[in-house]
Amino acid sequence: MSPIIPRKMDTFRTFYDFSELKAYLKNERAGQSIGLVPTMGALHEGHLSLVKKAHVENDVVVVTIFVNPKQFNNQTDLKKYPRTIEKDLELLSEFKNVLICTPNERAVYPKNDPYKPVDLGRLNEVLEGKYRPGHFDGVAHVVHNFFHFIQPNRAYFGLKDYQQFAVIKKMTRQSNLKVELVGCETIRNKSGLALSSRNQHLNNKELEDTLVIINTLNFIKENQRKYNIVELKENAIAHFKKSPLILEYLEIVDSESFEKLERIGPNSVCCIAAYCGEVRLIDNIAL
Ligand code: PAF
Repeated sequence: MSPIIPRKMDTFRTFYDFSELKAYLKNERAGQSIGLVPTMGALHEGHLSLVKKAHVENDVVVVTIFVNPKQFNNQTDLKKYPRTIEKDLELLSEFKNVLICTPNERAVYPKNDPYKPVDLGRLNEVLEGKYRPGHFDGVAHVVHNFFHFIQPNRAYFGLKDYQQFAVIKKMTRQSNLKVELVGCETIRNKSGLALSSRNQHLNNKELEDTLVIINTLNFIKENQRKYNIVELKENAIAHFKKSPLILEYLEIVDSESFEKLERIGPNSVCCIAAYCGEVRLIDNIAL
């Protein structure tokens, strides 16, 4: 990694493994609250909003940057995942009391791996669980190990990945970890597209095409009382299919169990996954 940031600055430091980070937290930050923002890098305003929130609520913020191979069920996707470490460090250098951890695979998954696989149940079988087999096992594993090695008081996740947040809640409960999980609202661009590291692969025309996602979600929310759930989905899907995007799924589910619903209730969420060219996008709206 290029040493563009002075490593000895007190409030902004980069660590390359957990033992160094743990020693620093224990010796120089003893008794301070730790907020964790796990990322795969390619940072954008969405990530920065998590860092800002963590910064307000904790004495020190740890941002991990690690492209986790275990959560990619598609090797091409893993290879293509944007890696912009210098820009990431520059963006984070704006913050005080931020520690960056860029561990390698060996540090995250040591021989003596502390993870005991959890049972994700239906979460692993529906929506993202169905279309990205193994993905959530990889997410649960990596987040567990971050929690184990860093022992944060709070951890921050964007709710664009709504099902991921449910998976992390389940893993945390089953693994008996004492960390407060904070789900943070989705940050969107001016047109309403949810920010994602993958958006950098979209050209201007594709960026415009993606507007069908937010329009469809808004249609569902605005018309949820006008139609029954079957008609509502049919109308929304028909509208979506007029766009160049390829819809993978549009479902209205319970926000905890992710079971499909026959009627919209207070804990309903509509989730969409679609391809815009080669880029897979997801989004959701609470109903
Ligand atoms: O949402 C992400 O960026 C990743 O899935 C996470 C939580 C950092 C785990 O690798």
